[in-house]
Amino acid sequence: EKPKFKTVQEVVASGERLPERYLQTPTGDDEVQPLNGLVPEMDIPTIDLSLLLSSSEDGRKELSKLHSALSKWGVVQVMNHGITEAFLDEIYKLTKQFFALPTEEKQKYARDIGNVQGYGNDMILADDQILDWIDRLFLTTYPDDQRQLKFWPQVPVGFKETLHEYTMKQKPVIEQFFKAVARSLELEESCFLEMHGQNARIDTRFNMYPPCPRPDKVIGAKPHGDGSAFTLLLPDKNVEGLQFLKDGKWYKAPIVPDTILINVGDLMEIMSNGIYKSPVHRVVTNKESERISVATFCIPSPDKEIQPVEGLVSETRPRLYKTVKKYVEVYFDSYQQGRRPIEAAL
Ligand code: SIN
Ligand code: FE2
Repeated sequence: EKPKFKTVQEVVASGERLPERYLQTPTGDDEVQPLNGLVPEMDIPTIDLSLLLSSSEDGRKELSKLHSALSKWGVVQVMNHGITEAFLDEIYKLTKQFFALPTEEKQKYARDIGNVQGYGNDMILADDQILDWIDRLFLTTYPDDQRQLKFWPQVPVGFKETLHEYTMKQKPVIEQFFKAVARSLELEESCFLEMHGQNARIDTRFNMYPPCPRPDKVIGAKPHGDGSAFTLLLPDKNVEGLQFLKDGKWYKAPIVPDTILINVGDLMEIMSNGIYKSPVHRVVTNKESERISVATFCIPSPDKEIQPVEGLVSETRPRLYKTVKKYVEVYFDSYQQGRRPIEAAL
């Protein structure tokens, strides 16, 4: 069974009035920080991934930069990740081409009700849910046997092959990042990887935010923390929109060419016993330009139990989180009820 709601691109194309379902309920915060207001930029560093695992002086410096950025923001940009600019550009191009296809073509990959994989609008999990101004294509890319290839676009030509290649190129980045994060906490390098599982899942979500007539009232992605261990993000190269919350204030993520933005997810917050927080973030819309992004989520194998690692629990630093298993299931339920899913692990 296919979903009965229109995608945002269809709403826009139909020329109909902006449906009520996209309008945010006013909150006390709107006057202080309007949705479409100006916000300061975050001061997050760009980390050289190739240095992080070296024991040189430069390597140690890079690790301490990583430590302070993850403690303060839960986000960094990485460079020297081994993926060429040309390859990243190809991904952006294919993403744009996919969303530019006629509706009938994209509908061939429409997700079925109850399945997250496939093409569609914001997932509708409650009747009174306010919808995000976003269309997306969500695909599990790893391990191979979890791919649902019927949702992998045949057009644009090269999409499938490039996504496969991107996944293979992300694997070492993910592994190195996990190791570096462990080192930045003075832990044994493989401790997070072991808990998360070597054959953990990778999901990639292609996001499209069409131009929006009411950026003051409509949101592209509502505030959330990610249900992953980490998320690797390719934000739009030209159009801003991603914002992170810190101490009750919103800050915009900078656009830094050729870097991958990596943010801590709820599961790394749990594993690090709260030292690295999963940052709340959102996407705002704008009137003029569409915005695209490609987010890759690192999800533990379903049999894995995620909990604070031993080395980070002590008498002076008590264990803050319960053990969670199959966190994704908890995640969607709480998220739609307006609660932070990680509260379920407290
Ligand atoms: C998200 O975090 O849900 C999307 C991020 C983005 O589009 O930049
Ligand atoms: Fe996110």
